[in-house]
Amino acid sequence: MLASEIRHALVARLSAYRGFAVGAVGGSGMTGGSTGAVPRGPAELLELFGEIDVYLFDQLLRGRITPELRVLDAGCGVGRNLVYLMRAGCDVYGVDQDAERVREVRALARRLAQDLPSENFRAESVESTSFSDGFFDAIIANALLHFAHDEVHLISMLEELWRVLAPGGLLFARLATTIGIEDRVQPLGGGRFTLPDGSERLLVDEAFLLETTERLGGTLLDPIKTTNVQNLRCMTTWCARKS
Ligand SMILES: C[S@@+](CC[C@H](N)C(=O)[O-])C[C@H]1O[C@@H](n2cnc3c(N)ncnc32)[C@H](O)[C@@H]1O
Repeated sequence: MLASEIRHALVARLSAYRGFAVGAVGGSGMTGGSTGAVPRGPAELLELFGEIDVYLFDQLLRGRITPELRVLDAGCGVGRNLVYLMRAGCDVYGVDQDAERVREVRALARRLAQDLPSENFRAESVESTSFSDGFFDAIIANALLHFAHDEVHLISMLEELWRVLAPGGLLFARLATTIGIEDRVQPLGGGRFTLPDGSERLLVDEAFLLETTERLGGTLLDPIKTTNVQNLRCMTTWCARKS
């Protein structure tokens, strides 16, 4: 697809969403007529999308997360990945074990999506949430899973996320892995490693992700994709659909 075609497709999609009328973003004015608006520079892009993970942005461009969905951000932090989803009108939820971060996400929702109840954002552990089975259409777990204390903790997080995901739902995860830096990481036991960048993380490999997808009863939506950050750490995008 040509860049101009991508831009037009994006404009068409954006114009259907909440908050994208001309001048609605940043207040500094945007290009475009009554059918939509295009952010003109980095400040407007930032206002529109926040500091969204680029691989999550890629999922948006593929139409995998659309405004009618109920979406959970697991380990949401301060909500950098929720700016666009709130603006788009998704039914957004978030959990984080850090109550201060949950307060910040609630404040973000008050600014961007006043109709979202503050109870959608909860100070809870991902491995033990208060949501009912199959509640979410899509779950984001961005830079979360490698903070598991050990493999048992990791599996309990994954099983809980899978429990609250509806059949047919999407799990989008980005996590540190050993993929591509197998010889550069130092095992500490229990699945934890010291990385070349000096951090300590729970790391999995490709076999774990493939086996776990199958064991949970899912299918990969995309091939597993790994970004090697100059051999200091590797971040893998894992995208699965619940059968
Ligand atoms: C590196 S931040 C990532 C935040 C956000 N997902 C992002 O991409 O910007 C990791 C977040 O996960 C949260 N977290 C880590 N382990 C968790 C757990 N077991 N349950 C809930 N939150 C957890 C931390 O409090 C932190 O806010």
